[in-house]
Amino acid sequence: MSSKVRCGIIGLGIMGKEGGQVLQLVEEAEVVALAEPIETTMQEALNIFEGAKPYSDYNEMLKHENLDIVYVATPDIYHRDPVIASLKAGVNVLVEKPMTTSQVDAEEIVKVVRETGKKLQVSFNHRWLSAYYHIKEMIDEGKLGEPIIGYARKNNPISVPTTMLASWALKSSPAWFMSSHDIDLMTWWFNAAPVEVYAKGIKRKLKELKGWDTWDGIQSLVTYDKGQFATFEAAWIYPTSSPYLPDSFMEVIGTEGTTHIDRQREAIDHIGQENFNCPRTFLGSKVFGKWQGAYPASVQSFVDAVINDTKSHVDEIAGLKSTAILDAIHKSLELGKPIDIKYGIDF
Ligand SMILES: NC(=O)c1ccc[n+]([C@@H]2O[C@H](COP(=O)([O-])OP(=O)(O)OC[C@H]3O[C@@H](n4cnc5c(N)ncnc54)[C@H](O)[C@@H]3O)[C@@H](O)[C@H]2O)c1
Repeated sequence: MSSKVRCGIIGLGIMGKEGGQVLQLVEEAEVVALAEPIETTMQEALNIFEGAKPYSDYNEMLKHENLDIVYVATPDIYHRDPVIASLKAGVNVLVEKPMTTSQVDAEEIVKVVRETGKKLQVSFNHRWLSAYYHIKEMIDEGKLGEPIIGYARKNNPISVPTTMLASWALKSSPAWFMSSHDIDLMTWWFNAAPVEVYAKGIKRKLKELKGWDTWDGIQSLVTYDKGQFATFEAAWIYPTSSPYLPDSFMEVIGTEGTTHIDRQREAIDHIGQENFNCPRTFLGSKVFGKWQGAYPASVQSFVDAVINDTKSHVDEIAGLKSTAILDAIHKSLELGKPIDIKYGIDF
């Protein structure tokens, strides 16, 4: 590929603007077109991506621009259509996580990736965090024997649903918002397909406090195809005094060894006059004005995969597995029983 990789962005909200800027910093890439239906949001984006061509309809953008990559950053429930339209227009896709909110839609995307031969990466950027990647290497090298039991916790203060996500906390859940990266990491580490999910949740604190019919916390037990299992915990009712955003911990127990990763704090304690907190920097932060960390590394990696025609490191099958688990968690919560995951495609 001689000239720069031409990128378009669909959905210019928080992530579209942030992820777009990270994409723009990749030396080999340029953001040339934007698709966003809300005019004021588009204006904000145009101030950032000067010279990019604005479209209110992403189909028009796909028709008129000769793009190499589209970054889909629409809300979770609106990923399917722009992803499929982009692939069918011959464009490689970087899609925000989760790939879709239903297993049926995820399988549809897998089929279209196969038909078109285009590349897709789901933005599960935690895979590029060196500590998580190191655990994957240890497991692949057999240092834990066979990984058979997993546990992951990602819990947040109550300010997350009541302030940060106030406008859409009711449409989301602690599992969608917090467990999705853990689910991707554990499934990647286990190198296995999920086959059954049993989830329990409770609605008490947010109901009392806000009258909201939403889960305070969820624990999900996921069984994989060789009987291995993992528990995923996500709760968002810690007191606001919690210094951790989020309180995060993962564990894998293997037949020959075990490993833990504690990300409650990422090296820094800040003890101020009024509060104590633990700022996080590992996923992405600016060092001497330049973005560094797992998040920019994941974006660079997809651009490299497109330029060099190499494998995407979080492909459509990874996207399908995590969506299948999350979809089954919410079905299990609704029906109060374990849910079998059956696949409509081979992989
Ligand atoms: N990778 C991560 O760690 C991470 C972190 C936060 C959020 N996310 C994900 O990023 C995605 C976007 O989240 P956000 O917080 O930026 O949401 P947001 O609501 O701020 O932005 C979404 C934007 O998409 C636009 N949109 C909706 N339908 C559209 C369409 N058909 N065509 C074009 N634009 C459309 C909306 O108008 C809005 O501007 C979500 O899937 C979210 O889960 C990922």
